[in-house]
Amino acid sequence: MIRHLCLAIALALLASGAEARERLSLDAGWRFHDGDVPAAKGAVPGVAIGPWRWCVAPDGAADAAKMTAVDLDTSGKEWHVAQPGEDIFHGRVGFCWCRTTLPNVPAPRHVYFESIDDNGTLWLNGRQIAHHEGWSDPFDVSLDAAWKAGGPNVLAVLVENTAGPGSIGAATLAGSAPLPKDHPAAPGYHDADWPLVDVPHDFVVDHPFDPKADVNHGFHPGGIAWYRRTFDLPAWDRGHRLWVEFDGVYRNSRVWLNGRLLGVHASGYTSFYYDITDAAVIGGRNTLVVRADATSNEGWWYEGGGIYRHVWLVRLNPVHVAHWGTFVTSAVPDPGDGLTAPADVTARATVVNEGSNDAMASVHEELIDGRGKRVAQWAGESQPIPAGGHVDVQPVLHLPSAALWSLEQPALYRMVTEVSIGGRASDQVSTPFGIRTFRFDPDRGFLLNGKPVKINGTCNHQDFAGVGVALPDALQTYKIARLKEMGCNGYRCSHHPPSPELLEACDRLGMIVMDENRHLSSSEDNLADVRAMVLRDRNHPSVFLYSLCNEEGRQGTEEGERIARAMAGAIRELDPTRPITAAMNGGFGLGISNVVDVQGFNYFYGEFDPFHRKFPAKPCIGTESASITTTRGIYLSDPIRGYVSSLTNGAEQSWRPSGEREWMSGTYLWTGFDYRGEPTPYAWPSVTSHFGVMDLCGFPKDDYYYYQAWWTKEPVLHLFPHWNYAYPASRDARSQPQVEVRAYSNCERVELFVNGESQGVRDVPLHSHLAWKVRYAPGTLSAKGWRDGKVVAETTIFTAGAPAALVAAADRTQLRADGQDVAVIRVGVVDAAGHPVPTADNTVYFTAGPRARLLGVGNGDPCSLEPDHADHRRAFGGRCLLLVQSSDTPGPITVTCRAEGLKSATLTLNVAGP
Ligand code: GAL
Repeated sequence: MIRHLCLAIALALLASGAEARERLSLDAGWRFHDGDVPAAKGAVPGVAIGPWRWCVAPDGAADAAKMTAVDLDTSGKEWHVAQPGEDIFHGRVGFCWCRTTLPNVPAPRHVYFESIDDNGTLWLNGRQIAHHEGWSDPFDVSLDAAWKAGGPNVLAVLVENTAGPGSIGAATLAGSAPLPKDHPAAPGYHDADWPLVDVPHDFVVDHPFDPKADVNHGFHPGGIAWYRRTFDLPAWDRGHRLWVEFDGVYRNSRVWLNGRLLGVHASGYTSFYYDITDAAVIGGRNTLVVRADATSNEGWWYEGGGIYRHVWLVRLNPVHVAHWGTFVTSAVPDPGDGLTAPADVTARATVVNEGSNDAMASVHEELIDGRGKRVAQWAGESQPIPAGGHVDVQPVLHLPSAALWSLEQPALYRMVTEVSIGGRASDQVSTPFGIRTFRFDPDRGFLLNGKPVKINGTCNHQDFAGVGVALPDALQTYKIARLKEMGCNGYRCSHHPPSPELLEACDRLGMIVMDENRHLSSSEDNLADVRAMVLRDRNHPSVFLYSLCNEEGRQGTEEGERIARAMAGAIRELDPTRPITAAMNGGFGLGISNVVDVQGFNYFYGEFDPFHRKFPAKPCIGTESASITTTRGIYLSDPIRGYVSSLTNGAEQSWRPSGEREWMSGTYLWTGFDYRGEPTPYAWPSVTSHFGVMDLCGFPKDDYYYYQAWWTKEPVLHLFPHWNYAYPASRDARSQPQVEVRAYSNCERVELFVNGESQGVRDVPLHSHLAWKVRYAPGTLSAKGWRDGKVVAETTIFTAGAPAALVAAADRTQLRADGQDVAVIRVGVVDAAGHPVPTADNTVYFTAGPRARLLGVGNGDPCSLEPDHADHRRAFGGRCLLLVQSSDTPGPITVTCRAEGLKSATLTLNVAGP
């Protein structure tokens, strides 16, 4: 409610004279329906198209002019009839022409295809309108550019089959015909009985686990969901431009405003926006409706579903900076000491005039440093911008001593671009950016500000405990902060562009981001996705590499090379400052290797040296490595229960090939965090992967300390396994079972003790670990670590007694009163002496109040089938996690954690602000 009020106040303020753009959150207060709505059954509203008349096309597209012409005679016997989805190839490899005449529908007109198997090129009335690759991907084609008023409108499709069956799946023609009142996209639709939700929202994570559902998607069945939200626009908005921006909807979304279809967006991973000016009710109520269809997948991991990123309403004057229309780059001739250096900053901006009159406008650029101080500025002359036209500016602003963005001190600047007409601000956009030099060098690896930096990175999917893929911004920061603590300095957005706030966290905390596009394809929609990724992300200082794709079948082929060239061309045109790579697991040196600037290796460590010898001028990086499976706190694999032992040598075996070769820029481990889906090596009841260095909650596994030891300088000394074995005590110590004890440490020497008795001192081998076989005896397992003859680290693990109490700690105790901020509460089970109980599985019950929401719970157990949205969670390995979200109201929040028979834990959070 308060946020609705804020929106109204903000709009009222705008009415009172503030002129520049406003970007207002539309996150709060959506009516939500899980499942399709009866009136909307049949995929999407519109007219099913087909049957198709088809014939074999021995020459492919060679005779396209003739075969796509409106008046082509298709009565000959070489023409056949096929229903949607009917196989017309029967294993034949080659091409077929398919044609159908479309009924008349009002603009804007789209055809939505469930699939064209394998690839399709489309013509409307003889004009090519789209090309699509990918046998099972739904996609959408706009028809308006080639539509003939009054008809006939003939759609021709050249279908290519490369193997197996081939067909055109169900296809629906949709226009802006008035919707029936009972249609969920119609403004008057009765939604009062739909529950209210705020976005980011993932509806799939609430679908109970089902052993029959897709294993790769973590046994959460997908589905369709509807979201409806109203907002008012004041009468004085007449004459303004209005956009609705979606940071990400999974997937295949259709969006309507006031019953008018705004568009369809297939990718669940790219951001998109609609200009709603024409469809908006100015001076009245507007109804925004989204249908998200997560019945088909884009990947082989848990992908969630729904409006799982932010939604924004943007209000602009007609003369304004284009959408994603700024690009700030910097030239630093000499990075000097790597801290400060002279820099020339180029502030490109495109200004558009969407009004009906020509305008005289001037552009002003202000460069603001991290403390909010203006450090440089540029004022352009007033210049004409014709109605419907645009101008580009690219002034260069000099900084004699710029603070460089680095991993240790990620200095940020802002470029404020202001457009004025007659001395009054018409638009203002603030673009955060950073100043740094970098290079991928074939001999020295990655250099940041002139110094070699090994990329010690992790690949990550986007989900987290308690929330699925719908992460509030605070959790993006939480994840990046945990990775930084481990010494990780690189983040690969596998295998798709991330949310903007993830990149903001990487900018702020210092990460070397590899920003990845989802598919290898030069289809129009994929190139549009590639462009959306680059335009949105090219100002982030943390982004250093664009990746075209991951492990694509055509990676080593000529066809793959042609496709990659088209994609790389699209990237370089929009951002020539970042190199391009691709995550390849074959065809090294062939196909798309010929296109990329930096050769990416997924695994295949044995290929590094031969490739480097053969292509000595090509920089190299491990785009993916490791894929080590371990379960936190588990030291004996259990295929029945689905747990994997943490006693492995995988971490060192997979990091050393990149870590120890100077010319390898580094590597991205698979993965930083466990994620839902892909529960390798076991399936049900495992529902999340075991690949993470941390579990789904961000609790460290043992391997975390291997990386911390070799990726950071401070002394690290970690012993495992835990010391709580249930072996019966024997009077004869020699008959006690032997246990393998390991240490991860970057000390020079380590001495191990069992109950105070030394087990010997050992030198720590570089980039490796220490292991002892000792007789198990309850009590203590401890170690000392030496450097330069001094003890610099000590650690002790106790055999814990029975669970006696809960302990809880929050990552932050000060939250903002914005209804979105989150504290992450880590809960542990301890014995009477306060020692963690590593085997405890007590059920913990949570309360948080007043004015707080229990956002979600987790425990990192890859086999937990408990719900994420609940007020309780079992501990796993003695730990569980609670996410507490603030409301709009300031004041203290009391969080209580209780478990039967244990002493409770209570803590207080302070909410202030906004
Ligand atoms: C890789 C793939 C990842 C993940 C991983 C599991 O080959 O790129 O997405 O599936 O294998 O080991």
